[in-house]
Amino acid sequence: MRNKIVAGNWKMNLDADAAKRLYLDLLNKSIDQSDGKMILIFPPNIYLQDFIERNNGSFEIGAQNFNAKSNGAYTGEVSASQLKSIGCSWVLVGHSERRILFKEDDQVLVNKIKTALKHGLNVIYCCGESLNEREQLQHKSKIQNQLALLKSFSLDEVQFISIAYEPIWAIGTGETASPEQASEMHDFIREELTSLFGLETADNTSILYGGSCSPRNAETLFKCDNIDGGLIGGAALDADSFSSIIEVLS
Ligand code: PGA
Repeated sequence: MRNKIVAGNWKMNLDADAAKRLYLDLLNKSIDQSDGKMILIFPPNIYLQDFIERNNGSFEIGAQNFNAKSNGAYTGEVSASQLKSIGCSWVLVGHSERRILFKEDDQVLVNKIKTALKHGLNVIYCCGESLNEREQLQHKSKIQNQLALLKSFSLDEVQFISIAYEPIWAIGTGETASPEQASEMHDFIREELTSLFGLETADNTSILYGGSCSPRNAETLFKCDNIDGGLIGGAALDADSFSSIIEVLS
């Protein structure tokens, strides 16, 4: 089902006191979730259980990372089934930071999505081109290739996958895709999903924009036809900014 979604990706930020303060501030904001709006929070994994226990129903809590293996001797790793067992309901897969800094390739990403879906977790699958790829006019082919790995999944599985379009040049840079650029890419992603899975599934898939999304630009971006919300990094680390972004999504 195509939901309107605002997701906060906290990345590796905030020590325990600051993280708890931000989360409590957000809980106190009694955020409006009418009209099928969903608010997701992706804190660092060490805070997941505490946040899930304190949750008042305002949010769904997701994990930024986990291992594709089910269980076993993988020192330091966390599995999808462990995440599910503490009440986590979403995971991020394919974020450019994981693809680039942690060398997660297509096979790893397919395995991660498989294990997430097997354990009943919803997935936000991230895609996006570099500045160089955009300048070489390869931005669409890059996204097409990244979306192609979704062919490994059935229609039944794809209904639990949302997409985040995150141009790498816009992540954490303060430079946002213009509404025209974002719109063009979101339309393209919807078309690609249509050719991969058919009109109905494509139409039911939420496509979020990410990359320096802020209270300043969110409203214009969210007005675009195929933008169903945002994956927010920096601006999710402040309760006022994050809630103003949520407010302008309608
Ligand atoms: P940003 O990050 O909003 O700080 O650009 C977005 C993301 O990486 O998900």
